[in-house]
Amino acid sequence: MPDRDALPHTVRVFAPASVSNLGCGFDIFGMALEGIGDEVVVRAVEGTGIVSVTVSGDAGRVPTDPARNAAALAVDGVLNRLESAAGVAIQVRKGIPMASGLGGSAASAVAGAVAADALLGGNLDRTALLECAMIGERKGSGANHADNAAPSLIGGFVLVLPGTPPQMVQLPTPDDLVVAVAHPHMEVETRQARMILGHTIPLMAGVQQWGNAAGMVAGLFRGDWELIARCLCDAVAEPVRGKLVPGFERVRASAVEAGAIGAGLSGSGPSVFALCRGRDPAERVVTAMAEAFRDEAGVESDTVISAARAAGARILDLRIGTR
Ligand code: HSE
Repeated sequence: MPDRDALPHTVRVFAPASVSNLGCGFDIFGMALEGIGDEVVVRAVEGTGIVSVTVSGDAGRVPTDPARNAAALAVDGVLNRLESAAGVAIQVRKGIPMASGLGGSAASAVAGAVAADALLGGNLDRTALLECAMIGERKGSGANHADNAAPSLIGGFVLVLPGTPPQMVQLPTPDDLVVAVAHPHMEVETRQARMILGHTIPLMAGVQQWGNAAGMVAGLFRGDWELIARCLCDAVAEPVRGKLVPGFERVRASAVEAGAIGAGLSGSGPSVFALCRGRDPAERVVTAMAEAFRDEAGVESDTVISAARAAGARILDLRIGTR
């Protein structure tokens, strides 16, 4: 058992937003983003289990019921795994817009899991932390996928193999690979965007998709821009989901016209990501995407530009003292 007096009483953790799917990798590829994410603060308090949950930055929309809050569910997962009866108060600070396709629930869940583990001196390994985070993520999307939680936890471009336990493989990326993201001011619920996909795909769509996913991994290992660009398309989800995002086709085309090597829906949308070779093209690409959303759908967008090697979750503050 860890020495309780040596444990922190408060831990604050940041976990980044992420772009998932990346075209051909439905539910298996994800990439962390720089400069946008959620924070979770956990405090040791009197009582047992999750004693309170507060949320800021969400205009009152994220549930504070521990049974419905992604961070709280992840913290609960850590408590259960460590068989801890500690009391924990949770503060969630949302930096990622709701239903944006940028992995907001996953980031809150990852930050919650990492913070609770540090608070309790658990030293859980990253697979265990991912599994705890997935408990929180599942509540939001209604499905068991880790393609946002995995990059949010370990950073970079990640292949996550489904299974029990899931396995994370961080993939190499060319030095100058940059992702540009436009987040239009509209919302798409992941749960709904998954429902419309159904449960089967045509065989040839499967062949195209797994060919492209394999090609993407090979392209990243070889630093082969042409191969990466060729494989950056989605034969499974985007053809169905594109209609949920007004202006999507034009926004994607505008990204490529402005110099991106390819573009697509970020997760279940409505955000659109584009991969670029360097920051200069990425600047032009986000501007073009934001203009296209304005012209086609009449909505303004926030934009993010990030290196492909963005860091994963990190402890920002850890206070040790008398509990
Ligand atoms: N892979 C998931 C999906 C990500 O596309 O439904 C959700 O953000």
